Amino acid sequence: MTDKKLSKIAAPKGVPDYIPPQSAEFIHIRDMFAHQARLAGYEHIELPVFEETSLFARGVGESTDVVSKEMYTFADRGERSVTLRPEGTAGVMRAVIEHNLDRGQLPIKLNYYGPFFRYERPQAGRYRQLQQVGVEAIGVDDPALDAEVIALADRCFKSIGLTGYRLELTSLGDNTCRPQYREKLQEFLFDLPLDEETRKRAEINPLRVLDDKREEVRAMTADAPLMLDYLSDECRNHFETVTGLLDDLGVGYIINPRMVRGLDYYTKTCFEFVHDGLGAQSGIGGGGRYDGLMAQLGGQELSGIGFGLGVDRALLALQAEKKHVTDGSRVDVFGVAMGADAKRAMVRLLDSLRASGVRADMSYGDRGLKGAMKGADRAGARYALVLGDRELDNGVVAVKDLRNQEQTEVSLDKVIEFVTR
Ligand code: HAM
Repeated sequence: MTDKKLSKIAAPKGVPDYIPPQSAEFIHIRDMFAHQARLAGYEHIELPVFEETSLFARGVGESTDVVSKEMYTFADRGERSVTLRPEGTAGVMRAVIEHNLDRGQLPIKLNYYGPFFRYERPQAGRYRQLQQVGVEAIGVDDPALDAEVIALADRCFKSIGLTGYRLELTSLGDNTCRPQYREKLQEFLFDLPLDEETRKRAEINPLRVLDDKREEVRAMTADAPLMLDYLSDECRNHFETVTGLLDDLGVGYIINPRMVRGLDYYTKTCFEFVHDGLGAQSGIGGGGRYDGLMAQLGGQELSGIGFGLGVDRALLALQAEKKHVTDGSRVDVFGVAMGADAKRAMVRLLDSLRASGVRADMSYGDRGLKGAMKGADRAGARYALVLGDRELDNGVVAVKDLRNQEQTEVSLDKVIEFVTR
């Protein structure tokens, strides 16, 4: 033993803690999103937090920032290269193929949530451990399913009361029309006086150049050919059916033909939800269709569509809109017992309250009436149950309504009925 004081340890850079009372809001948002997914027939899938590295290299795409710069990759003690999952779609697809879920009823509709890991430069709303709720509907290429997935994401945000966001939408075509477009775009880009690095990007993934944030590159690419003008008839019909269905559903959207998603697997419908109150990290959710992913991972040629909603950013968006999804209370009732016998009775009373589904806590230690009542206030309780020797002798408890300070004596065996009324 040494009496030298040890230094404190902080969480890793860019990794948020969710502590009370904020943690209640966080859980509520996540659960509301998952609840909406269940209402649309999605079943939960619990996936490993780390996978074989090749899954993401092959699934997400080696040319993406996510794979080339941001993965937490390490060799385990058996010298296997593993990676903390940077996103959920590749893992879902791996599990679907591994467990032959694609041999049953299609589409397979799956929902997941949890932490994902990206070694990004931390800033407000951009974390190295981020939380998503996602869905994937796999096995059927039906524009009605695209509309369902997009409307579901919109419903998720609405369900927590968010209003200050917009939906951006485009189609990225498929392998019948995108290669021709890609050539056209490259022809256009190679004629521009681009710097070496941007030129290289134009060779590997020309679409990404359209997403360049620099003003001079934006100006140069203002007249670049756009995928939407080169869609095959099939892709165009697909996209028009999706937008028509969203119109029917009253889901508003903006067509953004320059949208570039950070992952390579997308084809046809692509979308992003953008919130204006968040500053630079404004994407609160996004997704799209992916025709080739399953085959790319060794499975059948089946298409899928899904989304990932950012729970951290949804929480920040709610704060920006000055809204709450919980009332901030920790319990419904708070027990205040004066004396050893009263405390003993209170412990039993709380136990039966909790068994009836009432959130209940009590004052511990010897705090005195005033301190204990403060505890009741701090817990956000609706009722304080005050029990002293006198009440105990009479078989009653003093129930104080903390909203209006009205006090009622209630017989001990009627307390549950009284507070759940
Ligand atoms: P994504 O656009 O990379 O898509 O991420 C989805 C959402 O996760 C983003 O819109 C954002 O809200 C949140 N997010 C991403 N990175 C961070 C970060 N560093 N800090 C905080 N929040 C972040 C995907 O991951 C796809 N797997 C979605 C998908 C499912 N596409 C088809 N199916």
